[in-house]
Amino acid sequence: MAGLAVQIYNGGGVFRVVSTKPMPGTQWIRALTNVGCRVEVCTENKTILSVEDILALIGSRCDGVIGQLTEDWGETLFAALKKAGGHAYSNMAVGYNNVDVNAATRHGIAVGNTPGVLTETTAELAAALTLSAARRVVEADDFMRAGKYEGWLPSLFVGNLLKGQTVGIIGAGRIGSAYARMMIEGFKMNVIYYDLYQSTRLEKFVTAYGEFLKSQGETPVYWRRATSPEEVLKEADVVSLHPILDKTTYHLINKERLSLMKKDAVLVNASRGPVIDEAALVEHLKANPMFRVGLDVFEDEPFMKPGLGELPNAVVVPHIASASKWTREGMATLAALNVAGKLKGYPLWSNPNNIMPFLDEHSQPPAACPSIVNSKALGLPVSDGKAESKL
Ligand code: GLV
Repeated sequence: MAGLAVQIYNGGGVFRVVSTKPMPGTQWIRALTNVGCRVEVCTENKTILSVEDILALIGSRCDGVIGQLTEDWGETLFAALKKAGGHAYSNMAVGYNNVDVNAATRHGIAVGNTPGVLTETTAELAAALTLSAARRVVEADDFMRAGKYEGWLPSLFVGNLLKGQTVGIIGAGRIGSAYARMMIEGFKMNVIYYDLYQSTRLEKFVTAYGEFLKSQGETPVYWRRATSPEEVLKEADVVSLHPILDKTTYHLINKERLSLMKKDAVLVNASRGPVIDEAALVEHLKANPMFRVGLDVFEDEPFMKPGLGELPNAVVVPHIASASKWTREGMATLAALNVAGKLKGYPLWSNPNNIMPFLDEHSQPPAACPSIVNSKALGLPVSDGKAESKL
């Protein structure tokens, strides 16, 4: 489709960079214009752009693109970007299951993502979904608004107490660990986790926090690393899913695994929809009214599987886990700096666990690309760390 509406910044810039969506804040635009980019932001009133739309935006000359997780970044788009002279693409997201990284690499195009800036925000939404599901907040809110409240009753919207219960984490990376800490500190929950890698930091944190609680005369908290997802599902009162989506995690939660969970467990998913077999989940929720779920993501996003939206034991929100102002502006800035850095020939930032120097509005960002996922395959240089040590 030709003729999509665009807004242009720094029209005389030497590099042409396209953003497929307007993004929050203005720091990201400055990050690009400061290094000589002309920025074209697609302002078309269309939620999800098709491959054809994006081909039209790339046009015959384009140096880099910032895109969204709803777009299909595969062979067609990377071939077109390469043909238009492009070298850089960044998702405005930490997850990049919408991107065929191998296709990008074949065309010599760097693929950026935005880790670090959305860890706490995403974990907070997972915690909010946990509380909403455990304490039936949405059902109770609907009840109030419908004018059904006639007075306090002993059994009105009785839910689950979290304190002293066990929280299960499947995928204890940055976000899973941050969520675990929130539930441990906030609600004194014990933790059982499953991850291919040992989360030593999380284990140390729980041990130290348990010691602290003991020193205060309170019941300590404990951790355990499970050897399988099944072990987590059987044991935990709350299970939160934080794996990446790939072949090994597609339908990780299926009918059989749901049947292992406690009948009144809470299941939370703020990772990617296809990690759960959503049709099986709908059946499980129907058969087990005390089982509750909090979902930020869906298998056929933006759609829900038939029946899910009618179930009172499901809390559903539209993929908003990273939607805090600070985080969304930070994601935009990191995505812009990935593209700007690649176009300027900067090396890869050597410390992906500390992206804060890129987000300070009052100083120049480091001369590096914050996060390029195919940097090794492309043989991109890594910063020697001197820039980091000076910051
Ligand atoms: C959001 O879902 C992200 O991957 O950033």
